[in-house]
Amino acid sequence: MKDFQPIIKKIVNEAKRQTDKGKVANYIPELSNIDPNKFGICILDNNGVEYKAGDSNEQFSIQSISKVLSLSMAFSMIGEDLWKRVGVEPSGDPFNHLSLLEMENGIPRNPLINAGAIVISDILISNLKDPKSDFLKYVQGIANDPSISYDEKVAESEKRTGFRNYAAAYLIKSFGNLENDVETVLDFYFHSCSIKMSCEQLVKVFYIFMNRGNCLQNNNYLKLPQVKRINAIMLSCGFYDEAGEFAFEVGLPGKSGVGGGIVALLPNTFCVATWSPGLNKKGNSKLGMLALEKLTTDTGLSIF
Ligand code: DON
Repeated sequence: MKDFQPIIKKIVNEAKRQTDKGKVANYIPELSNIDPNKFGICILDNNGVEYKAGDSNEQFSIQSISKVLSLSMAFSMIGEDLWKRVGVEPSGDPFNHLSLLEMENGIPRNPLINAGAIVISDILISNLKDPKSDFLKYVQGIANDPSISYDEKVAESEKRTGFRNYAAAYLIKSFGNLENDVETVLDFYFHSCSIKMSCEQLVKVFYIFMNRGNCLQNNNYLKLPQVKRINAIMLSCGFYDEAGEFAFEVGLPGKSGVGGGIVALLPNTFCVATWSPGLNKKGNSKLGMLALEKLTTDTGLSIF
């Protein structure tokens, strides 16, 4: 297998030199305090070998990256019935867009935009005994790391300012696509987004999507056709109205979050996570995207 250490060292050095690092998200007040100069990267290959550089061990708010994990848990629980409640097409719109939702009768375009993740949260609440605790245990289990936790301050901060998510949830509810009440669903949704992880922890969790549904401990979490579907959705919908650009520049299925994290993978080969808190205009990490473009272009490793 390839030695990724020299290339990730180069990537970190280049990132440190960049003067335009993008803008840290401030619509969730608790996220606005993060140092924009942080930069971390970690790669885990399919032999379990880890390569890391920069602030790879520092935890940050994974935000929308959690949408892949809630999708994964819900899909493994209810199977194909899930697609009656949420679509699989890219939206071509920002992550918190509302008008499509109204035009399409409360069926969100896909599970990786906010509206879709809100419906997935509803499915999990209906199917779990103790939803927040069971979901966290699921994520901890995949990573074999019981230290992974919610950031209550971030969840609370988003609850106070999450007006567009309230609007989306009430719209979905009005079309009959939420079984539980809006407060309960959003409390779960905000908590899932608030999970803290480092790049090193993220690659361990996303290892299951790279390794045919099996984690590093070789426990199985998803069937192979389910892994195919989740990776396809990450490729077409993981970066909102910049999904085409990410496929074009990087060429890997992946997912971003407004905390500045990005995780991406090449099936059966490696999984990579980057963290740089400054975002571009579409809400994706500016230097994270540049780093991943360099990684796949220099190594020639992408799905294309
Ligand atoms: O609902 C929100 O707005 C945030 N909890 C998550 C948004 C997010 O991470 C979008 N990603 N790029």
